Amino acid sequence: MNPFASDTIRPVRFTDDRLWLLDQRRLPDEETFLPLDDAPAVAEAIRAMVVRGAPAIGITAAFGVVLACRQALEAGDWRERVAADIATLRASRPTAVNLFWALDRMQARVDAAADAHAALETTRDAARAMLEADIAGNRDLGAHGAALIEPGRAVLTHCNTGSLATGGYGTALGVIRAAWDRGRITGVYADETRPWLQGSRLTAWELVHDGIPVTLLCEGAAARLLQSGAVSWVVVGADRIAANGDTANKIGTYGLALMARAHGVRFMVAAPVATIDFATPAGDAIPIEERDAAEVLTLGGQAVAAAGAGAYNPAFDVTPAGLIDAIVTERGVVENPDTERLAAWRPEGGTNTGTAGIRAGS
Ligand code: MRU
Repeated sequence: MNPFASDTIRPVRFTDDRLWLLDQRRLPDEETFLPLDDAPAVAEAIRAMVVRGAPAIGITAAFGVVLACRQALEAGDWRERVAADIATLRASRPTAVNLFWALDRMQARVDAAADAHAALETTRDAARAMLEADIAGNRDLGAHGAALIEPGRAVLTHCNTGSLATGGYGTALGVIRAAWDRGRITGVYADETRPWLQGSRLTAWELVHDGIPVTLLCEGAAARLLQSGAVSWVVVGADRIAANGDTANKIGTYGLALMARAHGVRFMVAAPVATIDFATPAGDAIPIEERDAAEVLTLGGQAVAAAGAGAYNPAFDVTPAGLIDAIVTERGVVENPDTERLAAWRPEGGTNTGTAGIRAGS
């Protein structure tokens, strides 16, 4: 058996000092890779959702720093130029802590470099290592999460947390891939995930691509599905997990957690340890991105609302830790998460993120 048979998609590629992003705005109709050569273009690609998903955003930003170093190679003020590009990358999206986690690591590499050439070499090595480590970590995370799922029923997921949202393999979708490859689930239900349709455009594309049966539903159908008994676990990803386990993830996740608890369905959050923000004690301090009303009022460029209506469009919500049965990372499982239990994953003497500036742009 190939334990990774259902893992073939890689959305972020770096060759010849050029970054290529699978343009997720065009999926599932077109599989187009967009070439990027400088950090401001990378920041704009993150803001515009060419690439999205917390780990993929972090990895992409790391390669953005490599491009910044390359662009500044011959400049006398190369450190200032790279610092300005890192500030631009930091301001691209506010909620996914992986962005800041990755940029802090890249900034430390730049700070330690003797000159611009050394900075280019060391950031390139670090970004490539970050990409590879993310994929390897997701495979470990997937195995830990799959082991929690009793065979025989389906799972429900939300948004896209797969290869497209990470370096590869996925977090929640990594758990689902691993559970499928080990015969532990009968199939996958996926919320379509308005307004960006990450579920129907991306998760369905990814699962069909890799041969895992997927059934889509409107978010409004989730309560009926959970009431039916067809699903044993809701499995979701995270954009930022506070130190106490409160979890920011795609808008609609909190509602799913409430519904799951009401129907005795278990609720799993799958994310790398890098998604835990130990400097943020609880979910109420997590910055939540508000996006353009046009994303709700239109679909594929077509108006879907009465002209003159407004729209409420938070991109994320926060699920209280008390509604989460398990947080799964590459390092294992914490059941019934709280500050004390999650502290086991706190980095030695640190907070996981240098949070200075995280909220500044939000
Ligand atoms: O707005 P998006 O598409 O970037 O939101 C993505 C999510 O909410 C994902 O669930 C989260 O980033 C985890 S991805 C492994």
